[in-house]
Amino acid sequence: MPSPLDVFRDGVLAGHVALVTGGGTGISRGIAHAFARFGADVCIISRKQDVLDRTAEELRAATGRKVLGLAADVRDPEAVARAVTHTVEHFGKLDTLVNGAAGNFLAPAAGLSPNGFRTVIEIDLIGTFNAARAAFEPLRASGNGLVLNISATLHYHGTPLQIHASAAKAGVDAITTNLAVEWGRFGIRSCGIAPGPIADTEGMKRLAPGDIADRARAAIPAARFGTIEEIAAAAVFLRSPAAAYVSGHVMVIDGGQCIATPSLMGVSL
Ligand code: COA
Repeated sequence: MPSPLDVFRDGVLAGHVALVTGGGTGISRGIAHAFARFGADVCIISRKQDVLDRTAEELRAATGRKVLGLAADVRDPEAVARAVTHTVEHFGKLDTLVNGAAGNFLAPAAGLSPNGFRTVIEIDLIGTFNAARAAFEPLRASGNGLVLNISATLHYHGTPLQIHASAAKAGVDAITTNLAVEWGRFGIRSCGIAPGPIADTEGMKRLAPGDIADRARAAIPAARFGTIEEIAAAAVFLRSPAAAYVSGHVMVIDGGQCIATPSLMGVSL
């Protein structure tokens, strides 16, 4: 089975250094893997060192690149700043920050505790700002910097049971456009990817349990879920010289889901 990544030439990211938050698992792991496959050295960060160690070893074995795993909670600005500093000390620079760390669950607005709402805002939105702010100086020094934020399509419509994640991801998209405007003059592009339902992710397990997955699939014009490699391919494109003039754009990759039905996962009240 050909991979969507096969269209890129080997070495297209040679000499690049990327830091990927949430890179231990899921979509962010897929992006870290793809970046390493095409020649980048990569640092992955998340909360769990054992998960990072396992992923880093797997990516090293699969790609032959240097992959560093550093435990840091994106909600902690100092921990994120330490991870950025460590990455630069270890690899000599930083060209790309991928903000992929996220937390989510299904919860009705009227039953969600303030702390539950705040927790998702802190991970997805404030975590994205924390990492971008910490990475600014090395990205500027790179001369070819990129902030790549992973958001969602939840906030394009009202999505039931997702008020916390919708609010967070709307903010993440705002960060994407704002940084494109503020940091373009420093040689830093800012782009986003808004994935729809992607198979084999923690998000899908949490958001589409049981037969909800079948209903969700039926509502997607492409009649299937996306793959992690399809998101990773977009990330490689956005990082590559082919996207050198792309900034401030959020690329929706959802098989047409969000224009066909406002109700992600086919959930209705
Ligand atoms: N429904 C409603 N509220 C929930 C919840 C759920 N399923 N899961 C957690 N919460 C609430 C908790 O009750 C708590 O609020 P409270 O203090 O008022 O009770 C608050 O969220 C924080 O929960 P806690 O478990 O302490 O947070 P955490 O920092 O350990 O974990 C989460 C963060 C909640 C996002 C957790 O689901 C997580 O770690 N997820 C990571 C992976 C993930 O979500 N991936 C999917 C990405 S799409």
